[in-house]
Amino acid sequence: MAQLCGSGKRGRAVKMVLCSLLFLIPMAMASSVGRSRSSSSRRKLEVQKQLLRLNKPAFKSIKSPDGDIIDCVHVKHQPAFDHPLLKNHTVQTRPSFQPGERSFDESKVSSKSKPITQLWHLKGRCPEGTIPIRRTKEDDVLRASSVESYGRKKHLSIPQPKSAQPDLITQSGHQHAIVYVEGDKYYGAKATINVWKPQIQQPNEFSLSQIWILGGSFGQDLNSIEAGWQVSPDLYGDNNTRLFTYWTSDAYQATGCYNLLCSGFIQINNEIAMGASVYPVSGYGGSQYDINILVWKDPKEGNWWMQFGNKYVLGYWPGFLFSYLVDSASMIEWGGEVVNSQADGQHTSTQMGSGHFPGESFGKASYFKNIQIVDGSNNLRVPKGIATFTEQPNCYDVQNGQAGNWGNYFYYGGPGRNPKCP
Ligand SMILES: *[C@@H]1O[C@H](CO)[C@@H](O)[C@H](O)[C@H]1NC(C)=O
Ligand SMILES: *[C@@H]1O[C@H](CO)[C@@H](O)[C@H](O)[C@H]1NC(C)=O
Repeated sequence: MAQLCGSGKRGRAVKMVLCSLLFLIPMAMASSVGRSRSSSSRRKLEVQKQLLRLNKPAFKSIKSPDGDIIDCVHVKHQPAFDHPLLKNHTVQTRPSFQPGERSFDESKVSSKSKPITQLWHLKGRCPEGTIPIRRTKEDDVLRASSVESYGRKKHLSIPQPKSAQPDLITQSGHQHAIVYVEGDKYYGAKATINVWKPQIQQPNEFSLSQIWILGGSFGQDLNSIEAGWQVSPDLYGDNNTRLFTYWTSDAYQATGCYNLLCSGFIQINNEIAMGASVYPVSGYGGSQYDINILVWKDPKEGNWWMQFGNKYVLGYWPGFLFSYLVDSASMIEWGGEVVNSQADGQHTSTQMGSGHFPGESFGKASYFKNIQIVDGSNNLRVPKGIATFTEQPNCYDVQNGQAGNWGNYFYYGGPGRNPKCP
């Protein structure tokens, strides 16, 4: 302050506010009101611009029981085509190749005959030629720390097992319980993921269960494709379990986003909306529900495709979005992640998976089953050399195994804060 009052090049008003005791209070008030008015109207303008960018003209809109609005947007009007390199892109209507199924009939081993679906289906469907997009509301953007950060991850949060320096990893506040494979070339991954609705302690925390397809080292140019389910009050404004995807080609810095919240993923499917709620979810000691997710690289076109359930081919990430993944992935991870913000100085009580430890097993602990990778011959295979990783097993743990119809599976998760995880 001394410097400012002495010889700073600041304007008169600033000097007067800072230096004149007499006018300090009234002028500071006036100037801060003025500032916040102009910055709030600037923010409003930015938010409106962002909404205009994200929400494309809809052919039809459907109001979901959870409060979402699902816009049926013409395939050619989706956010991907804002990308300069996609201006002349011809939409691929199907993958040239899809990795083969395992020999057993997965439909026979699914836990429930009632298929998992999305809540908005209760209120309507999108016609052929359109895709369902969860509309971004003003409040969604306002909850983000900045307009630019809406729809994007804030930190590098990939579990990095090999350089396990627990101090470093937990500092970012993200905790994981995963299984992984590395050291080979992978062209995709698959899993059947148990679906739950974990409790979130703080709105800025989340809990997710997903597959990570990773390329490159864990440096500034890490490539990642991610898909699974998540509960994220900040991103969606509620505690519902939602289908999500994420991608980045530079370790979450300038590229990538959740779902269709930036240009990248090209959706072709008119039945499933990214970021929309999935239901039903599993109950503790009750009915169990799970979703299949398969992500694979089309060997001919080089695009990375995603399938949800046994029949919904959602669309693809064009290969050119990536550097390492343009060739292949070098690591696959499956499992859970939560944010531990330690809001009250204690470990968060945000749950991972079902909120129960792996030892409780089926019906109580959350599982991934039939985890597979796509190998160099484009076949689905049992992953070799599976390892597990968790930062604090007393908070969230993971246990893997192998058995008959479940193939390679694991239980994971936990309650977070408890007497052993203070
Ligand atoms: C798209 O096509 C136009 C006309 O053929 C061409 O001028 C332009 O360079 C193309 N853009 C890209 C990104 O390929
Ligand atoms: C989400 O859950 C938390 C408690 O876990 C609760 O305090 C909050 O009100 C819920 N939010 C909504 C939008 O239901």
